[in-house]
Amino acid sequence: MKIVLFGKNGQLGHELQRTLAPFGELVAVGHQELDLCDSNELKAFIGSHEPQLIVNASAYTAVDRAEQEQELAFQVNSHAPGLMAELAHELHAAFIHFSTDYVFDGTLGRPYVETDTPNPLNVYGKSKLAGEQVIQKVGGAYLILRTSWVYSMDGDNFVTKVLRWVRQKEKLQIVDDQISNPTWARALAEIIGYLLPKAEKAPFTFFEKYAGVYHVAGDGFASRYIWAKEILKLDLKADEQVCKELLPASTAEFPLLAQRPLFSALDCSKFETTFKLCLPEWQKALKLALI
Ligand SMILES: NC(=O)c1ccc[n+]([C@@H]2O[C@H](COP(=O)([O-])OP(=O)(O)OC[C@H]3O[C@@H](n4cnc5c(N)ncnc54)[C@H](OP(=O)(O)O)[C@@H]3O)[C@@H](O)[C@H]2O)c1
Repeated sequence: MKIVLFGKNGQLGHELQRTLAPFGELVAVGHQELDLCDSNELKAFIGSHEPQLIVNASAYTAVDRAEQEQELAFQVNSHAPGLMAELAHELHAAFIHFSTDYVFDGTLGRPYVETDTPNPLNVYGKSKLAGEQVIQKVGGAYLILRTSWVYSMDGDNFVTKVLRWVRQKEKLQIVDDQISNPTWARALAEIIGYLLPKAEKAPFTFFEKYAGVYHVAGDGFASRYIWAKEILKLDLKADEQVCKELLPASTAEFPLLAQRPLFSALDCSKFETTFKLCLPEWQKALKLALI
């Protein structure tokens, strides 16, 4: 299978390079080689490689900065994926795209299923929702995989930040009212690796049959405070920690440019029953990530 992967240097893209490589010819591209804001270049790139599968792990993910860079966020998160979907359709290729729990407003009070109505609170969420809608409009053989709270041990994310902070600060306050599914980028990439053999013989036919939106995230959910507590507990170099007090705080105490949904956990049962695959419990994945 010939695969084009966008976003190869991101948290997920980096992991996908490994899990996609065994499936044939993989062309992985990052921001430095190709700016997704350049539609002509994007068109020419996809046209020249004629993939059977396009995987888009690229995104504008700076949630606060997006409030001031709306046009750029929409360019990367909506226009570029829309063009990828169109080109995939033209080439009779399958398309895997990732979206976010931030398409929801977090007020439902239970984990979100795919049929729940999105209502993004910030520009990032709005741009990702616009991306979903344009892909759905194009149709074809696409999977939109909504995930949440992605971390990898290389990236700058909640896990690596907490590990850094507990080595610097004696007292740490972490919000206890934002709740979702911590998702290890490697576990998510591996799920794609388990999904592809099912599609290998005829990717377009397989993905067209199952086309739609799916929630795929770490199993279970937690507040950022509980997540931080687990990080501290599982830290293999706990003797380096100087933090003596980890305290719960509220989102209102830490105002940021972009409003976050409070309870945006994702219910992943549709993905699990459709493909007979699920991500490990978030605590187990975290333990593996920290080894
Ligand atoms: N991170 C999370 O907590 C989270 C939560 C829910 C859903 N998601 C979704 O999961 C997917 C993967 O996220 P991630 O955490 O792996 O993201 P990430 O680490 O921020 O990686 C995104 C990649 O996209 C690239 N990119 C940004 N603008 C670009 C442009 N104009 N042209 C080409 N490449 C560009 C970035 O390159 P530069 O860094 O060089 O700009 C980066 O390598 C995304 O769809 C994201 O929306 C993430």
